[in-house]
Amino acid sequence: MVELKSFENGFEYLELKNDAASAKIALQGAHVFEYKYSDSQDVFWLSENSAFELGSAIRGGVPLCWPAFGLNNPDLPQHGFARTSLFELVSSKELGENATEVVLRLRDSKESLELWNHKFELEFKVRVSDTLTMELKTTNLDANEFKLTQALHSYFRVSEISDAVVKGLKSKPRFDALTNKTFIQKEDISFKEEFDSVFQEVDAEIILEDADARLSVKNEGSSSVVVWNPWLDKCSRMSAMKPTAYREFVCVESANAFEDFKILRPNETHILKATILKQLS
Ligand code: BG6
Repeated sequence: MVELKSFENGFEYLELKNDAASAKIALQGAHVFEYKYSDSQDVFWLSENSAFELGSAIRGGVPLCWPAFGLNNPDLPQHGFARTSLFELVSSKELGENATEVVLRLRDSKESLELWNHKFELEFKVRVSDTLTMELKTTNLDANEFKLTQALHSYFRVSEISDAVVKGLKSKPRFDALTNKTFIQKEDISFKEEFDSVFQEVDAEIILEDADARLSVKNEGSSSVVVWNPWLDKCSRMSAMKPTAYREFVCVESANAFEDFKILRPNETHILKATILKQLS
C-alpha cells in the first residue's frame, strides 16, 4: 500500500506498507526518513529535533547528496540541492504481499539551473521489503558533459555508538577529513571520537554491527563509502540535533565521492544502488 500523507504544516510524504516492512519517504528530497521491519524495529535514525519544513533538510534517514557530495563542488551548497528540492511521484506498485516499490523524479528547473547550469533527470527507485533497495539514477539531458559526486547518506540507528563496528573497509585507502591525510585502514572501525572519512576502492559489502543487530550494505555503481559520526562537540554545534544524538547513529554512506566521481556525457546515465539487508547475528 502506498499513501500520500502530510504533516499539519502541509509537508508531504509517502507511506509504504506491506507484510514485511514499512517506510516513509518525503517528497522533498525523495528522503527516506523511516524504514521499519514488521517487528517495528527501526533501521534508520531520525533526529527528534528534525524540522519537516520545505527548504530545510531532514536530519536522519537517508538524505540524497546530489549533484555533489559535501563540498566536492564548492559552487554548490554542502551536499548539493536535491535534498531540499521537491520530487514528484512517478509510479508506485505492489510486488506481491511483501514488497512495495515507488519511483520519484526530479528534473532541472529555473532554480536548479541558476545553481547548477545542467539539464538532467534524477530518478530514485525505492523498494521496501525485508530488504531495502535504493537506486539513484542520473541522466545527463544536456549538450555538455557534467561531473557528478553523490551519496545515499544513510544514518543507521545503533543501540550505542561505542558498541558499533563497521566491517568491510579494512585495507582500503582512507581519506581522513579531520586531518586531511590519506592512509590504509588497518582495522575494522569502532568509534571513540569524531570520525569523518572517505574510503576508496571499496568492493565488498559493508557490515554494521551493534549490540542488537547486524546489517549489510551492498553498493553498486560505487567504490567509495563515507563513514561519519560527529561526536559530542560537533553534534552540539549542528542543526536539528540534540548534543548527545551522536550516541544513537553512525552514517555509512554509499557514495561516488572524491576520486570516485563520475563524468556523464550527454544522454549518459549512472546508477548508484544500495541494498540494505538485515542479517542474523
Ligand atoms: C557527512 C560529512 O557526509 O555529512 C560531514 O562527511 C558532515 O563532514 C555531515 O558534517 C553532515 O552534513 P550536513 O550538511 O547534513 O550537516
